[in-house]
Amino acid sequence: MSIKPIEYQNGVLRMIDQRLLPTEELWLEYTDYQGVAEAIQTMVVRGAPAIGVAAAFGAWFGARDIEAADFNAFYSQLEKVCEVLAATRPTAVNLFWALERVQAFVKARSAKPLAEIKAELEAEALAIAAEDEQLNRTMGAHGAALIPEQARILTHCNAGALATGGYGTALGVIRAAVEAGKKVMVYADETRPFLQGSRLTAWELQKDNIPVTLICDNMAGYMMSKDEVDCVIVGADRIAANGDVANKIGTYTVAVLAKEHGIPFYVAAPLSTIDLAIADGSQIPIEERDRKEVTHHGDKAMAPEGIEVRNPAFDVTPNRLVTAIITERGVVKGNYREGLTKLFST
Ligand code: MRU
Repeated sequence: MSIKPIEYQNGVLRMIDQRLLPTEELWLEYTDYQGVAEAIQTMVVRGAPAIGVAAAFGAWFGARDIEAADFNAFYSQLEKVCEVLAATRPTAVNLFWALERVQAFVKARSAKPLAEIKAELEAEALAIAAEDEQLNRTMGAHGAALIPEQARILTHCNAGALATGGYGTALGVIRAAVEAGKKVMVYADETRPFLQGSRLTAWELQKDNIPVTLICDNMAGYMMSKDEVDCVIVGADRIAANGDVANKIGTYTVAVLAKEHGIPFYVAAPLSTIDLAIADGSQIPIEERDRKEVTHHGDKAMAPEGIEVRNPAFDVTPNRLVTAIITERGVVKGNYREGLTKLFST
């Protein structure tokens, strides 16, 4: 049983504070949309699908608290709530996907009494969370077939249960391979500067008794050159229509290394991460985060004061480096533009 980072019951959203893992398991409670927006921005909750799930509950809280005389007034206030939630982080498209889904859901019910719309919206947020976990299991089953028996799998960042409604995308594929009886092991890149690999991936795999070995990011090439990596699986924050993949900074480096060593490089992501409105990766907005993530380790300075710093949180892996994209509707290879578009009509 993998962890679920987001729980909802009776008007209270509980999220495990991912900033404190692995040393402290603290659950924070949220009851309004401003709190949820802050949780997304400050990375209490992170990972593309988990951000989408949290945003859906945030939108529900916002909608619930709106006092409006008619549907139009209600809807325009809901749009403002969604704008606040949308302004939290720019790269993971699941955030915008969830907010658009909520708004379309509400719009389609414009003839109903507001109390009824609100009640149905709560159920819709719960459905978004449940669907996410379910589709990860389906994606896992599709992806597990690609994993060789005894595979040594390298992953970057955390695309696990913690990053989703449950089970995980890249780690979901690994979980499914393990459930199918394959004796695999995982190399977790530490993932500087926020350390999602060492703090989160290592923590959740160890908790589930899946063999995991932690390496620093700059060790991946060495492990590959020594023939110690059989495949790479990562998640994604946004996939453009041509199959270019935005994911955690350092993913591109791993993909280049994998190509050089003839190692398959797989991306596991749900349809809610695919943005057909964006033609290629150059148009994906890349979040730049606080300089302190680079200059400090906790409160300790690791660089001279005043040093110039760059801190892009994501990079884009061009489609030519991607062996296959694993989704809940199957595996896409080759012509991504055609294959990804087709997924939406099946
Ligand atoms: O900055 P983060 O921690 O939100 O970035 C997360 C990632 O890059 C994950 O790899 C991605 O969201 C896929 S999660 C299933």
